[in-house]
Amino acid sequence: MARHLITSAIPYINGIKHLGNLVGSQLPADLYARYLRGRGDEVLFLCATDEHGTPAELAAAKAGKPVDEYCAEMWEVQAKLAEGFGLSFDHYGRSSSAQNRKLTQHFAGVLADKGLIEERLEKQMYSHADGRYLPDRYIEGTCPNCGFEDARGDQCDDCGKLLDPVDLINPHSTISGSTDLEMRETKHLYLLQSKLKDDIDQWIDSQDGWPVLTTSIAKKWLHDGDGLQDRGITRDLDWGVPVKKGEDDWPGMEGKVFYVWFDAPIEYIACSQEWVDAGKGDDWARWWRTDKGADDVRYTQFMGKDNVPFHTLSFPATILGSGEPWKRVDYLKSFNYLNYDGGQFSTSRGRGVFMDQALEILPADYWRWWLLSRAPETSDSEFTWDQFQTDCNKDLADVLGNFVSRVTKFCRSKYSEDVPAGGTYGDAETALIADLQTRLTAYEAAMDKIEIRKAAAELRAMWAAGNEYLQAAAPWSVFKEDPDQAAAQIRLALNLIRIYAVLSAPFIPNASAALLSAMNTLNTDWPTDMNDAVAALPAGHSFTVPDNLFAKITDDQREEWSEKFAGKRD
Ligand code: MF3
Ligand code: ZN
Repeated sequence: MARHLITSAIPYINGIKHLGNLVGSQLPADLYARYLRGRGDEVLFLCATDEHGTPAELAAAKAGKPVDEYCAEMWEVQAKLAEGFGLSFDHYGRSSSAQNRKLTQHFAGVLADKGLIEERLEKQMYSHADGRYLPDRYIEGTCPNCGFEDARGDQCDDCGKLLDPVDLINPHSTISGSTDLEMRETKHLYLLQSKLKDDIDQWIDSQDGWPVLTTSIAKKWLHDGDGLQDRGITRDLDWGVPVKKGEDDWPGMEGKVFYVWFDAPIEYIACSQEWVDAGKGDDWARWWRTDKGADDVRYTQFMGKDNVPFHTLSFPATILGSGEPWKRVDYLKSFNYLNYDGGQFSTSRGRGVFMDQALEILPADYWRWWLLSRAPETSDSEFTWDQFQTDCNKDLADVLGNFVSRVTKFCRSKYSEDVPAGGTYGDAETALIADLQTRLTAYEAAMDKIEIRKAAAELRAMWAAGNEYLQAAAPWSVFKEDPDQAAAQIRLALNLIRIYAVLSAPFIPNASAALLSAMNTLNTDWPTDMNDAVAALPAGHSFTVPDNLFAKITDDQREEWSEKFAGKRD
């Protein structure tokens, strides 16, 4: 049995994520995890909240709460929403966990022992008005690279370049707005990534088959010299993992913490320890240590494109530099951005649909289906209410929902709520089964390669094939002359409902569960030979007619929602 480790980029704790965030990592990761489990593989699927650094501190300050309290509350909120969307994490951890603190300090210790960490005196922005240093997001100004006026101290949101706060033009404090800033000397730890450049370069070169988006970003960073400069991995902040060398104090680094991008990816590993400590698993090392069995694991990471440099360069530098046998990523699936109705999602302006709002207006499966079937894989994609309404109504209501309802209701009215006996399969049935077999192979190939849009298209085509068969076979007419023949048609169609439930579960798990329960079966075996699969529910097997699976989205709803989410969430 294959073993798959799957991680989704861990979302910042600082608020509820929008649908663009969701489709950029957690949702496709869940699709893949569910698919592999469905095929019988062993899966460990991990995600967590990213709780350190300035995003957390700033959001807590805005909410008027102590940062630890704020994080604990927001973790609950995010975990609930993840559950609402059916995200099937084996564990949803927290980067502020004791496990991550210890492991982060451990990595710093071994990296120091290997001569890969250097103490450097450097200049940091100090704000007189605020009485503190202003790292990263505590400072904003004009990007020295592209001229964008609201660039944050650590990264420009416009051109994507990683920045050093001291290079910003016209900087100001994001706490007080003050421009009364002074560069002061302070001591920090630097990870000597430049020493690892050749190793990382080789490792990336040896990855064939990674998505172009992933390798092109990694290569660009590596060769423009942007990514593997030595990087400061500590900050003058209160909130974070205290700087220690393993379990020992680090003289001169008292009161400082590690940089959030140093400890956050380490949480992928720590999360598996949290999973064990929570009593959900018994061995994390067989997933993460190649000396303890993780050699057989295939490790896949999911993330938005802005996260790629950290996962292809910085995190690998951390684990490679340690010299310890940590499992490295085998496949890195990255995503472009989802835009919202002619612009961008905006957290600050509340533009677009956020995870909580989405679930308030429609069940998760609508969102899952639409977002995944239109995932921004090869280019940015766009959410529009028109497209959303059209796709959901067509694919989910007219094709899948309608098929299920027609078949089950017809059977109940003409036979009973049992799979009917009688008749035999002819050419039309044989052709349908062959078509489904071909599509199944294509569906699996796309899912194996995590080509999500393609997989969705194959699944949709399988739903449509059932519908077209039903339309052409017309059991409601055949029934008048030859009820036995119509029974064979309906028996096949009822079996298709079970097959659809199993194959569609990674995309629409709730509808899938409803279908399996209506079909009164616990048989979730992934179909291999379609000839067998269409006989899984034999004549005489009882079922019930399910409630309408997918209500259509009305024009009124569409208009109401497009107005409601146009901007200005408080
Ligand atoms: N919190 C980051 C973001 O939302 C992602 C962190 S991924 C990890 O962009 F690798 F650092 F964990
Ligand atoms: Zn810029």
